[in-house]
Amino acid sequence: MTKAFAIVLLLALNDNIAMPLREILVHQQQQSDEILCIIYDSIMYKVAEVANNLNIPSVILETSSANLFWTYAAFHRLEAEDSIAEDLVPRLDPLSIGSLASITEREVTEIAWGLVNSNQHFLWVIRSGSITGSDLKLVFHEKSLREAIDIRGYIVEWAPQKEVLGHFAIGGRPCFGDQNVNSRYASYVWKVGIVLERGEIERVVRKLMVSDEGEEIRQRAMDFKLEIENSVAENGTSYKCLDALVKFLLSL
Ligand SMILES: *[C@@H]1O[C@H](CO)[C@@H](O)[C@H](O)[C@H]1NC(C)=O
Repeated sequence: MTKAFAIVLLLALNDNIAMPLREILVHQQQQSDEILCIIYDSIMYKVAEVANNLNIPSVILETSSANLFWTYAAFHRLEAEDSIAEDLVPRLDPLSIGSLASITEREVTEIAWGLVNSNQHFLWVIRSGSITGSDLKLVFHEKSLREAIDIRGYIVEWAPQKEVLGHFAIGGRPCFGDQNVNSRYASYVWKVGIVLERGEIERVVRKLMVSDEGEEIRQRAMDFKLEIENSVAENGTSYKCLDALVKFLLSL
């Protein structure tokens, strides 16, 4: 699915959802089924309009990362400085639909050769359906590439993501939605990753796996992991935020 098509689809969805949603809500209220609150995904923005109209509180469920949220917040400040906003906004994607991310056959082949040429052992997890207009078997039909991969690499179509990410330092390629913002944060703010430019995979993989800088990046990634674990543990910052939301909902 292309970004342009995704935007058209979302606009159409929002345009068409208001009336039926309103009917359902009104009907439910007439049945004396009190609706305390509506929680809706941020991309279904029309829900807020309908809810406000019926005096029902609504809460946005923002499924993309917090840094994307901050980026949106920064837009308002940037609007005061037109030139900066005009320069920055077109480079950021307005949508977050992670599962729609897809790459082309050429990109897959490029990544594969980059990994092979880096001389590092690798495990590469890729969803077959994520390759635009092709599938894994076709992409890796080239004999020389397949043989080169077999020496050091292992490609699987699916893996238990949590376990794999818990054990390996893994690099990804931003494709869609908040991933572009995330990659800039990971690289320039948190310094736990390296942004991949075209044709650089071999150099970056080597840098990450064998250089001092790579060692520092991996150390920071481990520190980062601990901070995240603390934030979701009991009384951590994320835990408290979610707790506050639950208390708010129960107070309605
Ligand atoms: C979390 O905070 C509450 C209230 O201050 C406290 O009673 C509880 O022991 C804390 N739990 C942990 C795991 O620190």
